[in-house]
Amino acid sequence: MRRTHPLRSPGRRLIRSLTAVAATAGLLAAGLATLPQVAAEDAGNLYNTDVDIRMGQRYFERQCSRCHGFDAKGNDEVGAPDLTGSLRNASTDASIFNVIREGVSGTAMLPVAADVPDPTVWQLVAFINSLRYDPNSVTLEGDADSGLALFNGRAECNSCHMVDGRGGRLGPDLSRIGEDNTPEDLMLAMTNPHEQVAPRWWTLRVTGSDGIEREGFRMGEDSFGVRIMDVDENLWSFRKSEIESYERIEDSTMPSYEGRLSDDELDDLVAYLFSLRREVQPQ
Ligand code: HEC
Ligand code: HEC
Repeated sequence: MRRTHPLRSPGRRLIRSLTAVAATAGLLAAGLATLPQVAAEDAGNLYNTDVDIRMGQRYFERQCSRCHGFDAKGNDEVGAPDLTGSLRNASTDASIFNVIREGVSGTAMLPVAADVPDPTVWQLVAFINSLRYDPNSVTLEGDADSGLALFNGRAECNSCHMVDGRGGRLGPDLSRIGEDNTPEDLMLAMTNPHEQVAPRWWTLRVTGSDGIEREGFRMGEDSFGVRIMDVDENLWSFRKSEIESYERIEDSTMPSYEGRLSDDELDDLVAYLFSLRREVQPQ
């Protein structure tokens, strides 16, 4: 299950045009070394498929591994940092892009050659991100087995979430939640659930022509009507012309677990959630 980033789609288009501008700037820069580079904005990476990651890895092995190492774990002698954990100067896709595009001045980290096209740089970004999501390169404080026990036991996460076909439907299926989320993302999802709520999980409170107020997830909405699913998983449809009152709540229905669970328990849950992914093929 991929995490949805509702704010991203328009941004993606922005990146496409920025990429075109940047490519032109890159061509010019080959002759005019002083031309400022166009910095990428943080709107997500268009080049993020498995194929892109493999292409990025190939380029990395040829051009970057002599300093950062084949496993990207860094090299103390040249001062090239480990790229498999959280990065010092580059926390977003765009900032990783910019470090590779522009280098870090005054260090051995030089910019990539000006004729390297932006898609190649984005593929490097995708590869570097894939390392952070790689369970083999991440050491976590928590214990995944204890996390599993909590998830289905005292914390009752399974009352809302399904994993591998078992559990509730009042929250997203988490069977593959570890694939596209860093441990930090997962911790935030539990401690600050209102931060980013996809429209699918907004709540609508609707009073229809019968005068009864009903509340549920927004299953569908268009110019004619809305459909909601209540906590007992009943579906209700309303024609807009018949709606007496209507309220949209964009907060999450998931409670925050900050303070409700101990730090150790939250760490155990992060370890469990991070382990939830499709079987990784041995390379
Ligand atoms: C000649 C050695 C060298 C090569 C080649 C090199 N790097 Fe670096 N890289 C460094 C050093 C040194 C730093 C640390 C700079 C600093 O002090 O901030 C760095 C930093 C970085 C960072 C920022 C890490 C952080 O924690 O913020 C990224 C990302 C990165 N390099 C990616 C790459 C990629 C991708 C390539 C290949 C296109 C590459 N590097 C090639 C030496 C190198
Ligand atoms: C009352 C139902 C409910 C309970 C109980 C609940 N969640 Fe959630 N959870 C949701 C809903 C709804 C969302 C989607 C909205 C959002 O992002 O907050 C969600 C989102 C999430 C996400 C982010 C999913 C994504 O696709 O990004 C994670 C991770 C998560 N929950 C983990 C947990 C864990 C772990 C527990 C138990 C400690 C738990 N949840 C308990 C309803 C619940």
